[in-house]
Amino acid sequence: MFQTDDSSNSTLTVLFVDDTPDNLELLGFALKKKPIVMLRAASGPECLVIAERDQPDVIVLDIQMPGMDGFETLRRLRANHRTEKIPVIFLTAAKSDPQSISEGILLGAEEYLTKPIEVDELMARIRSIFRVSTMQRELERVKAQFTAMLVHDLRNPLTVIKASIEDMVQHHTKNASLDRDSLGVLNTISQSTRGILDLVNDLLDLSKYQAGQMQLDKRTLTIHEVVEGSLNLIGLQYKRKGIELALYIPADLPKIKGDLGKLEQVMNNLLSNALKFTPPGGRVSIEIKGNADPDPTELLVSVTDTGIGIPSEELPILFDHFRQASTAKKTAEKGTGLGLAICKLIVQAHGGSIAAQSEVNRGTTISFTLPVG
Ligand SMILES: Nc1ncnc2c1ncn2[C@@H]1O[C@H](COP(=O)(O)OP(=O)(O)O)[C@@H](O)[C@H]1O
Ligand SMILES: [Mg+2]
Repeated sequence: MFQTDDSSNSTLTVLFVDDTPDNLELLGFALKKKPIVMLRAASGPECLVIAERDQPDVIVLDIQMPGMDGFETLRRLRANHRTEKIPVIFLTAAKSDPQSISEGILLGAEEYLTKPIEVDELMARIRSIFRVSTMQRELERVKAQFTAMLVHDLRNPLTVIKASIEDMVQHHTKNASLDRDSLGVLNTISQSTRGILDLVNDLLDLSKYQAGQMQLDKRTLTIHEVVEGSLNLIGLQYKRKGIELALYIPADLPKIKGDLGKLEQVMNNLLSNALKFTPPGGRVSIEIKGNADPDPTELLVSVTDTGIGIPSEELPILFDHFRQASTAKKTAEKGTGLGLAICKLIVQAHGGSIAAQSEVNRGTTISFTLPVG
């Protein structure tokens, strides 16, 4: 089932990042006879460009570099979905630098080596880290495939159950043919079924997207269409809860290329979160602007609420799946914790990025970008 390609003989492409040209020169010489295609970068920024462009199998990254150091470089590699999965080996100067080692590992460097480098050890580390990362990716793929299969088979019968119960509720309500208690029970079953179906649908989307199976039905559209479509669905719920909705959307924004249904899904998720986590009497605003006048290359879409907020230390994990912030756990609101993970994948598939800002008891802003054109 696993394609654990045996990497012991295959040639790997490895990007070496070091600000000292002599070090790279020396390494190049030492690795001459090894089955390695060596790419070089002399700084953090150069590493980011080459990593994205050439997709190396492994990156060997010096920590101490002027300007952008190894930590910052690693942070940026992990923040870009084109480079986030490339395994990284840290090079530390001194053996006695436990703090930088643990900091590096916390950031997701899989391995570290101390200078001076011993070539055979370096080769062994590169091989092993590559093998592990290949297996990890394969595991993710199999898991996604399995989830997709499972939830797909759950969805059809659940859809039938949900429709049948809703019919029953409607029928008995209209004919007053059930006592109040029994009708209450039916309503509870109906709501729970809807909850399970939501979860199954989210899981199906997420596993499909994670397995790289997001099909974008792209066409030229305006961001107004996206907002309108979403407000049609959720606007009424804002009225009911007594939350003011304000729109700051200029009329003359440039068009974008995107999948209307999926972008609406992003907007729905953000608006339903803002609605859930903002008490009655609060305010939610949607603001959209171009990143530059008069010729924006990107639209910046923000949804800001005056709700319960999210502690800053929890912001970095917000877009992972099944995550719920501690502030939300104190409320009675239910959720799957999949909404933002799905948003992130959809936005990234459109070439944009998504981020959160928040202050507890003050409110939250979730913003995403979409390339123009
Ligand atoms: N506008 C918001 N205000 C406060 N917390 C939020 C907001 N949006 C998202 N969150 C937090 O992020 C978590 C994940 O959101 P999401 O992925 O949409 O899952 P769900 O809505 O199903 O809980 C929420 O459980 C909540 O803790
Ligand atoms: Mg949500």
